[in-house]
Amino acid sequence: MPDEFPKIIINFKTYTEGYGGYAHNIAGAAEEVSEESGVLIGVAPGYMDMHPISHHYEIPVYAQHVDAITAGAHTGHILAEAVRSAGATGTLINHSERRLTLADVSGSVAAAKRAHLQTVVCTNDISTSAAAATFAPDFVAIEPPELIGSGISVATADPAIIENSVNAVKNVNKDVRVLAGAGISTGDCVKRALELGADGVLLASGVVKAKFPKEVLRDLVSKI
Ligand code: G3P
Repeated sequence: MPDEFPKIIINFKTYTEGYGGYAHNIAGAAEEVSEESGVLIGVAPGYMDMHPISHHYEIPVYAQHVDAITAGAHTGHILAEAVRSAGATGTLINHSERRLTLADVSGSVAAAKRAHLQTVVCTNDISTSAAAATFAPDFVAIEPPELIGSGISVATADPAIIENSVNAVKNVNKDVRVLAGAGISTGDCVKRALELGADGVLLASGVVKAKFPKEVLRDLVSKI
């Protein structure tokens, strides 16, 4: 694979079209498009598919969440070391659909780093992006909640939130990469997000719910 950090991460969420055989189809398409384009694409499947997908494909795999715990008696929690052992490269933290307190974000980032997982901390506004950057994650992913799943691209509907989040994050820690997410579904959206200073994009429905995910993936990388 050409580089260590993906430019595109596909979150499978808990969509019907995102688990089991569907998850394999999307991961296989992501791997193929990564190889043919040289643009690294990561995937964030559900926990049940994380181990098989990590072992079948070369692309980076992300958990959708890890808990701020250490190994022990924590029934029903997600242990970062177990995520790593299942083959994941990294994890999302604080997704809009899995919101945490700031203290828990800090604990989850620490747990993920302890387990040598890349960290992608999701945020909903500029000040949260700056706060997230203080934990020195690998990525901050800015996603305005009102645009998530809307089909309306953050890159055109709210370009300022991308630009200002990039500035806020880089002012705190220039080494933290910024992903933009919400409503991204085309190569033009990706291009615009990169022009606004983002290092890449995080998306879900545009690929997961597409009839032909590979075609959407090819379009997504076409203008990078
Ligand atoms: O994690 C990605 C996400 O929340 C954006 O969702 O469906 O708008 O691409 P979507």
